[in-house]
Amino acid sequence: MNPIRNTITQKLHFFGNTNPLELIQKYGSPLYVYNESILRERCRELKNLISYPHFSVNYSVKANGNISLLQIIREEGLNVDAMSPGEIFIEKKAGFLPEQILYISNNVSAEEMLYAIHEGVTISVDSLSQLELLGRIHPGGKVCIRLNSGIGAGHHEKVITGGEHTKFGINTEYLPETKKILEKYNLKLVGINQHIGSLFMEPEAYLEGVRSVLTVAEQFENLDFVDLGGGFGIPYNKYENESRLDLKKLGEELDKILYEWTRSYGKEILFKIEPGRYIVAECGVLLGTVHSIKQNAHTKYIGTDLGFNVLIRPTLYDAHHDIEIYRKSDVPSLCEEKVTIVGNICESGDIIAKDRQLPQIYENDILGVLDAGAYGYCMSSNYNNRLRPAEVLIQSNGNVSLIRRRDTLEDLLRNFEI
Ligand code: LLP
Repeated sequence: MNPIRNTITQKLHFFGNTNPLELIQKYGSPLYVYNESILRERCRELKNLISYPHFSVNYSVKANGNISLLQIIREEGLNVDAMSPGEIFIEKKAGFLPEQILYISNNVSAEEMLYAIHEGVTISVDSLSQLELLGRIHPGGKVCIRLNSGIGAGHHEKVITGGEHTKFGINTEYLPETKKILEKYNLKLVGINQHIGSLFMEPEAYLEGVRSVLTVAEQFENLDFVDLGGGFGIPYNKYENESRLDLKKLGEELDKILYEWTRSYGKEILFKIEPGRYIVAECGVLLGTVHSIKQNAHTKYIGTDLGFNVLIRPTLYDAHHDIEIYRKSDVPSLCEEKVTIVGNICESGDIIAKDRQLPQIYENDILGVLDAGAYGYCMSSNYNNRLRPAEVLIQSNGNVSLIRRRDTLEDLLRNFEI
């Protein structure tokens, strides 16, 4: 195999004892490939973020719910958050205990709340009406509330979850009413959580969020925990040497804030964070195949099987993912050129990389979409009745194992009444 521009995965020995061509031949194209060592490394980095001793990293399972990855994450000593009964279900199957799960609910039914209660999982609610509902169905129970303390940040307006333009959280002006409802139903407020949004690369917005949630938290006595949220960013522009989030600086600043706050609060409570992307994005590469190349007006299109049914981030958020090229023959790329890489879905928005300057790409080349481990497979669909890809794991010993099979045509019939 001839790697055309793959220094990053090469440097990381990402594909272990195998290579993209072998993987595609064996498991089909497209294909999600995860690297166990990188996953473990990211878990460890965040577990060591701060020195404050009562600290839990709750992996945000929405980013990637593959059960084999969850088992690795559990082995690394992380806990989890859940956004739905389905996530609670999968997390328990992966071996997490109820006390290791926090259900961060948003606009859910009584049935969903009862499911979590029955499973022994603490629920965070994020509106007064949901707090009332929980009080009615579970008086005297434990509850966590999600605050919107006014700070928001994120890589795209669609993923900012704090501040004035979002559906999430209870605004601080409603704290008196919140307290009344807690009293009315004798609910025990065990924790407060917030999540300001997804993907920050500088510590400041997160720290500002932490300070403001703690200002609110100190108004409640005897909390067990405060969950500071996720959003830890990763550099998606690796070929342009984008810097990493400075975890050391973030950790030191956090430590200062947390130690000082607990001293004045008078109780060494537990602090949680809930990162999704940081844990799993970089351990995943999505492989696909080039099937056609054409010029339409001013644009050279590289036609692949990497439709937005497989990875929707570029279409939904204009997100950037670096692209690598792998080739079976040793025919070299003769030049670099600007191309637009598209998928096989019947929509013009089906673009995975727009106007990219890349070494010349040929038919049958394999493309690698980097940093595809977060919000990749989990946001994929059967749109156009396409089959969702398989997922494989490059184990720490370099061997590969299948961790989710590719859809079959029969899977498309599964829920029909015929
Ligand atoms: N906690 C809560 C309450 C959240 O809503 C989220 C993400 C997280 C934690 C984890 O955030 P992370 O650490 O992964 O940034 N699909 C989008 C991202 C959506 C994030 C939704 N909430 C994307 O592909 O960029």
